[in-house]
Amino acid sequence: MTRAITLHDVSKAYTRGARVVDRLSLDIAPGEFLVLLGPSGCGKSTVLRMIAGLEDIDEGLLFLDGEYGNDLPPSDRDMAMVFQNFALYPSMTSRDNIGFPLRIESPGTDPAPRVAATARMLGIEDLLDRFPAQLSGGERQRVAMGRAIARHPSAFLMDEPLSNLDAKLRNHLRAEISQLTRELGVTTVYVTHDQSEAMSLGDRVAVLRGGVLQQVGTPRTVYSLPNNVFVAAFIGTPRINLLRGLVRAPLDGAMTISLGKQFLRLPEPLSLDHQLLRVQQGREVIVGLRSEAVRIAKPSAARPGEVALTGLVEHLEFQGHEVLVHFNTGSRPAVVPELEAPRPGPDRPARRRRREGTVLERLRERAGALRAGPVVTPAGPGRPDPAPAPAEPRVAGDLIVRTTPDIRLRHGMQVPLLVDLAHLFVFDQHGERICPNPERLPGLEE
Ligand SMILES: Nc1ncnc2c1ncn2[C@@H]1O[C@H](COP(=O)(O)OP(=O)(O)OP(=O)(O)O)[C@@H](O)[C@H]1O
Ligand SMILES: [Mg+2]
Repeated sequence: MTRAITLHDVSKAYTRGARVVDRLSLDIAPGEFLVLLGPSGCGKSTVLRMIAGLEDIDEGLLFLDGEYGNDLPPSDRDMAMVFQNFALYPSMTSRDNIGFPLRIESPGTDPAPRVAATARMLGIEDLLDRFPAQLSGGERQRVAMGRAIARHPSAFLMDEPLSNLDAKLRNHLRAEISQLTRELGVTTVYVTHDQSEAMSLGDRVAVLRGGVLQQVGTPRTVYSLPNNVFVAAFIGTPRINLLRGLVRAPLDGAMTISLGKQFLRLPEPLSLDHQLLRVQQGREVIVGLRSEAVRIAKPSAARPGEVALTGLVEHLEFQGHEVLVHFNTGSRPAVVPELEAPRPGPDRPARRRRREGTVLERLRERAGALRAGPVVTPAGPGRPDPAPAPAEPRVAGDLIVRTTPDIRLRHGMQVPLLVDLAHLFVFDQHGERICPNPERLPGLEE
């Protein structure tokens, strides 16, 4: 048995007036694997804890299988939680750790058969008689999973269950969790701040920012059609290139987006999406180019829909199978503040006063402010309009492009680039996507 979980306009404030979850609505289907993704402090764990019944819901409604569930005690919700710090009982063997919740739930029943079946499923039969201190991190996490699974819950709630593990083990267990939850067909809500984890695990990903849902969709949709600049910047590696542009749409000439020293000339005839940009004439916009939208090639090699730019090589990141080239194109980067330097939002009190930060944090803040240049603050409900842009420093390396390692590049080289305008994103001053136009979704599945 597995559950549908519905949140309807759910809000939570720990201190009066400061909502850490703000009117969140989500429909999670039975058997679905939904990932809650967002930066630290955006309210992910709070949402999970409200679903589990460990935290009261201040406003809004929770439905479990369509039934009102706000006041249901945690024990009646039939959900199993897996936390970051596995919280195994140190004085119990794996066998007892897994069997413990079963004993509590049905005191008269021998948990041994279920413990054995669970251990078989997780491949941990040989670990059953060991204590947590005798297990590696990954083994401990498997036992913790076993404890959750053995109960046959109707939903799993997982709060960053892998973040204490090293990268290799994390990848391995990630695949196991994905396979296991699918096999069991149990609704799973999985919290992480790691976008690649979210993308590889989720049937759908819900992106949170400052307690507000930004977008929920398949990994493919949130990557290829991000609702706003925050989602675009949070999802994808390397980070999407965000450049400040100015739309020029003269009545008697070609439409362009000026990027400081260079411009993108929109190919004619204009696509419908580009035609719709005309209303932005004379306005500042944010241009988003994922690294795959730009390639190193001469203008003569341009395919239909590609336009030329040039870039000065400022930095090369060798990654083995590819090289990330940081170009200076003379553009001005636009930056999403919370993704650059951890700073509190306008309606959230600072966890720590600024002057109390470590030297490193203060340096990072200063660097963030310097690098940030003009700041993009998508105006959400109750949020003030973005502050006027501060003075604009020239920033090195405004465009990152992926290339194969066989291309020989050196610092200071001027290199021809082609931008594929089929992959062009444009966001308005508030950071909302305006191209591709939100009204006209290409045939992507949701
Ligand atoms: N018990 C509490 N009392 C007061 N404030 C709290 C409490 N728990 C969480 N908060 C605040 O609520 C906000 C959301 O916290 P939450 O733990 O849900 O974030 P998160 O997205 O899970 O972050 P992380 O990725 O760091 O775990 C944070 O600003 C946090 O400081
Ligand atoms: Mg958390």
